Amino acid sequence: MQVIKVSRFGDPDVLQVGEADLPRPRSGEVLVRVLAAGVGPWDASLRRGGYTGSLPYVPGGEFAGVVEGDTGDEGGLHDGAEVYGYPGLTGCYAQYVTCPVEQLAPIPAGLPMVDAAAAPIDLLTAEQGLTDVLGIGAGDRVLITAGAGGLGHFAVQVARILGASVVATASPQHHEFLHRLGAVEVVDHTKPGWPDQVRELTDGGAEHVLACAAPTFGGAARAARDGALIATPVQGDYPGGERVRWQHYNGQPRGSRLIRMAPYFDDGSLTVTVQARYWWYDAPEAHRVAEEGHTEGKLVLIVDEDLAATDETS
Ligand SMILES: NC(=O)c1ccc[n+]([C@@H]2O[C@H](COP(=O)([O-])OP(=O)(O)OC[C@H]3O[C@@H](n4cnc5c(N)ncnc54)[C@H](OP(=O)(O)O)[C@@H]3O)[C@@H](O)[C@H]2O)c1
Repeated sequence: MQVIKVSRFGDPDVLQVGEADLPRPRSGEVLVRVLAAGVGPWDASLRRGGYTGSLPYVPGGEFAGVVEGDTGDEGGLHDGAEVYGYPGLTGCYAQYVTCPVEQLAPIPAGLPMVDAAAAPIDLLTAEQGLTDVLGIGAGDRVLITAGAGGLGHFAVQVARILGASVVATASPQHHEFLHRLGAVEVVDHTKPGWPDQVRELTDGGAEHVLACAAPTFGGAARAARDGALIATPVQGDYPGGERVRWQHYNGQPRGSRLIRMAPYFDDGSLTVTVQARYWWYDAPEAHRVAEEGHTEGKLVLIVDEDLAATDETS
């Protein structure tokens, strides 16, 4: 099969089209023919040298595709069933990938194939942070920093679905986008005084915070009220620890949680914004854009020729 490979660490041009053996599903795994793969900043950090396994490796941690043959039978997934998932941090920039059955889910009717490829990692991570870590419920108010990126744009929508009112931060070009997704207030995080603005909007400081980008950490701590909980899946230095509580967590790859969110895709209350889609041989260009760090929503690689042909925007 064809894959995109990284044989040495470096800039985006180290992403090269190559050949690899078809992966063999182990017990409990499904073989998936990949139609599209999501791209995130984690793909770029691994490519730059963060990957700790042996080279070469195939990047890509999330996919949308179809079940191949009888490999999904045990999980009740027939040949050709449309699925999306998060098998791990690598392997999805490929024509085929294996995925543990509990780390994928059927694609909801209301979710287009290309959009599905961009959902698993950031959606699961956003939902877990808001529910398991922050315990957000109806009537809560939550500050979501860096709300317009892959992680943030899901977090804004999921918080709204949970019944919370959302104050989000973003660069000015994304403000209208965040209002459309349901943020009640949007604050410009390029202005040094943004934490004070959040404190005013939240009657003295946000009680619950999901911090979606490291450059917002200082501001998140200042915008939070005394004793507030700040959840983040991003590694870094967490300031203001004498006054606020930080909790780092990693998004878990759970198909069951994707299944739980299917009704929201179906009724249109949850959508995926794909800023740009690329033919997968153009992965270097997708990585260059991802590394700029100002994507509105997500980036997707189209792996399947038929999908590329029917997807007029690619
Ligand atoms: N541990 C896990 O399980 C896990 C899972 C998913 C994601 N993550 C991490 O979460 C982070 C966000 O992921 P993502 O997919 O949302 O990335 P992304 O789509 O590239 O978004 C990056 C965000 O950072 C903001 N940003 C960039 N430079 C900024 C600056 N100088 N000041 C303030 N904000 C700035 C951008 O906001 P504007 O464009 O509006 O400025 C944008 O919202 C990444 O570090 C990723 O690795 C971790």
